[in-house]
Amino acid sequence: MKRPRHGDIERFDEWSTTYDRTPGQFFFGRIHRPVVDAVCSGRVLPRRVVDLGCGTGRLLESLLPHLPGAELVGVDPAEGMIAVARTRFAAEPRVRLEVATAEHLPLADASVDAVTTTMSFHHWDHQEMALREVVRVLAPGGRLLLADVLGIGFFGRMMRSLERHHGSGYRNAPELTGLLRDAGFSRWRRRQLWPGVPIYVVEARLAAKP
Ligand SMILES: C[S@@+](CC[C@H](N)C(=O)[O-])C[C@H]1O[C@@H](n2cnc3c(N)ncnc32)[C@H](O)[C@@H]1O
Repeated sequence: MKRPRHGDIERFDEWSTTYDRTPGQFFFGRIHRPVVDAVCSGRVLPRRVVDLGCGTGRLLESLLPHLPGAELVGVDPAEGMIAVARTRFAAEPRVRLEVATAEHLPLADASVDAVTTTMSFHHWDHQEMALREVVRVLAPGGRLLLADVLGIGFFGRMMRSLERHHGSGYRNAPELTGLLRDAGFSRWRRRQLWPGVPIYVVEARLAAKP
């Protein structure tokens, strides 16, 4: 699946200053909501959450009031995105921001309770490597909440066949299952957010004991 460098990160760098004002944000906000609900739905609230491909930090901003006392970490390789997020959270000591890729996380082993990622996974060049990193940094019983386009159903297959510019692209169900299993997740499920729209929230969980 490896392709030559596609310039995604450069595009996001250029886009970063206007990203929050683009019409698509209305739609992205509706994708963030079920992820926030899922992160905050457990019996025990997570104490440390990492958002991969955090962009300008809007998902982290939605999570903050629901997770009092938790540390939130945003990771994105586009320096411009992280610069906007740093301005957003300038007065918020609970948010840490890192310029990095999902494939190389600047985080210690088993140090995170939940990992989120919204509309970013298909941009990653090495999803296998990144999911292994997610498993490395998650504590036992930790969860991944991944929202993205999947190449499932008529429109998903159509988008997958038309997709030309992204990293690893829109995965279909067997590919995603293989990636999660090979990375070390023991359980997962997926939920389509709207009928006919190939956007899903995938929740994957590590075994409680390693
Ligand atoms: C469409 S934006 C989504 C931003 C944000 N998650 C949201 O919901 O608004 C995709 C983001 O993924 C980031 N990205 C691209 N490649 C990445 C990688 N390998 N690891 C982590 N993030 C990546 C981009 O820089 C960009 O900020």
